[in-house]
Amino acid sequence: MLVSGAGSNLAALLAATADPTYGATVVAVGSDRDGIAALEHARAADAPTFVCRTADYADRAAWDEALTEVVGAFEPDLVVLAGFMKLNGPAFLSRFGGRCVNTHPALSPSFPGMHGPREALAYGVKVSGCTLFLVDAGVDTGPIIAQAAVEVLDDDDEASLHERIKAVERVLLVDSVGRMARQGWSVNGRKVTIP
Ligand code: GRF
Repeated sequence: MLVSGAGSNLAALLAATADPTYGATVVAVGSDRDGIAALEHARAADAPTFVCRTADYADRAAWDEALTEVVGAFEPDLVVLAGFMKLNGPAFLSRFGGRCVNTHPALSPSFPGMHGPREALAYGVKVSGCTLFLVDAGVDTGPIIAQAAVEVLDDDDEASLHERIKAVERVLLVDSVGRMARQGWSVNGRKVTIP
């Protein structure tokens, strides 16, 4: 699992994996930065951690290769990005494409990028939500695995809307990753099916 921030999605997934019937374990937690709460959640759960910082490499391509190697060493069946604030490069995608998922706090294809809740509010939508998708080379453009809607309230600000989205997002992530691990999935064009 790759993270960059608070790690509430990671914490939810770690809690779920404590149940052996869940069907998945977290083999490692990596980040592009140190000093974040997400890494503390991982350490508290005794999950192996690593940090792979772009600043430690000559360029993005070298960082992409290094991240691919360090993740690959843990031999994950599925790579979960949750709040990972870097775009994965071609080396990473050629190794993990089709089995790398990300979660986005908006209803794709609306409001891709770093500020989904802010842009949804600014647009005035009445319903937003979250999207779990298979990562491709675009920004939040990959085939959609699952979505959940969240009502936008009149007095919402960015923080309140994002918090309510995150509450739903954690449940969607845990449910979907568990079903993918237990049942597998197929992709036909843009359509993802978990049987
Ligand atoms: C989530 O809303 C995710 O969709 C977005 O950043 C947030 C990460 O939250 N990209 P956390 O670090 O899992 O608490």
